[in-house]
Amino acid sequence: MNKNLLITGANGQLGSELQQLAAHYPLFRFFPTDVDTLNLCNKRDIESFIQQNKIDYVINCAAYTAVDKAEEDVELCYKINRDAVRNLAEAAVGKAKIIHVSTDYVFDGTSQSPLKETDKTNPQSIYGKSKLDGEQILMEISPESIIIRTAWLYAAFGNNFVKTMIRLGKEKESLNVVSDQWGTPTYAGDLAKAILDIIMFGEKTLGFASGIYHYTNEGICSWYDFCLKIHELAGIKTCKVHPVSSAEYPVKAKRPMYSVLDKTKIKSTFQLEIPQWEKSLEKMTVIL
Ligand SMILES: NC(=O)c1ccc[n+]([C@@H]2O[C@H](COP(=O)([O-])OP(=O)(O)OC[C@H]3O[C@@H](n4cnc5c(N)ncnc54)[C@H](OP(=O)(O)O)[C@@H]3O)[C@@H](O)[C@H]2O)c1
Repeated sequence: MNKNLLITGANGQLGSELQQLAAHYPLFRFFPTDVDTLNLCNKRDIESFIQQNKIDYVINCAAYTAVDKAEEDVELCYKINRDAVRNLAEAAVGKAKIIHVSTDYVFDGTSQSPLKETDKTNPQSIYGKSKLDGEQILMEISPESIIIRTAWLYAAFGNNFVKTMIRLGKEKESLNVVSDQWGTPTYAGDLAKAILDIIMFGEKTLGFASGIYHYTNEGICSWYDFCLKIHELAGIKTCKVHPVSSAEYPVKAKRPMYSVLDKTKIKSTFQLEIPQWEKSLEKMTVIL
């Protein structure tokens, strides 16, 4: 039987990649919405949308993601990343299952080995704090939900590091990029597929394995390494990229120095294979 799947924040990076995959998942009927069609700040609207469209699953891609701006725009950031998640959880509980997306910024970046779902959280930015609050509220109200923490997300849609580095690489003769922060890039198309496969897995096994999971592409790099690879794949040869320390590149929100996520749990629970970050970047730069 067909399942009705609500995508919130569907015009963002992840939401757009999910919509691209719709044709490959005929079991699902997609209901893409964004702030103009379903504003998550309005609980009544969410309740009636879920009821009227008999929604079985919600993939929550809606978020406030302007990490530096959030340090000043605190109220709005919490309204979307915490309060709207509460609205969604209350509206969906007992009716639709939720897959919510969170971030590596819930960690403080002091770890020296890949972070597990059970590792201590200690967010250092308003964005990270608001996302952690969202996670906790969701699990209190609707513990049967799935939360997927991801990192360094990019897509063919929207603005992101990959597109910015391509643009700057074409415009400038040189660039400074931070080389002492470590993580893993994530192609939103891979994450979108993983989310849909997780729902399919639950449908086939008659179980929805609730809990927190970590998902990024495979591998580790710094932002500097990431930029070099982007320029290589995009054929940019005229821009010299200089490695700089975080201290030399001040930003408003504190970033984790190390936020490599351990993906053992998501891979073993849902039998997922995760592509290496360079391979996925190659796929994306071909599209651009
Ligand atoms: N981007 C990253 O590097 C990154 C890293 C780790 C985790 N994540 C997480 O991954 C998820 C997806 O991120 P993304 O990069 O795809 O985000 P995105 O591109 O910023 O998309 C978020 C979408 O949510 C919409 N939205 C904002 N407020 C809303 C509201 N009240 N009701 C409904 N929709 C609303 C936004 O609309 P407007 O554009 O009009 O505001 C936007 O279309 C988020 O949970 C994010 O926290 C992202």
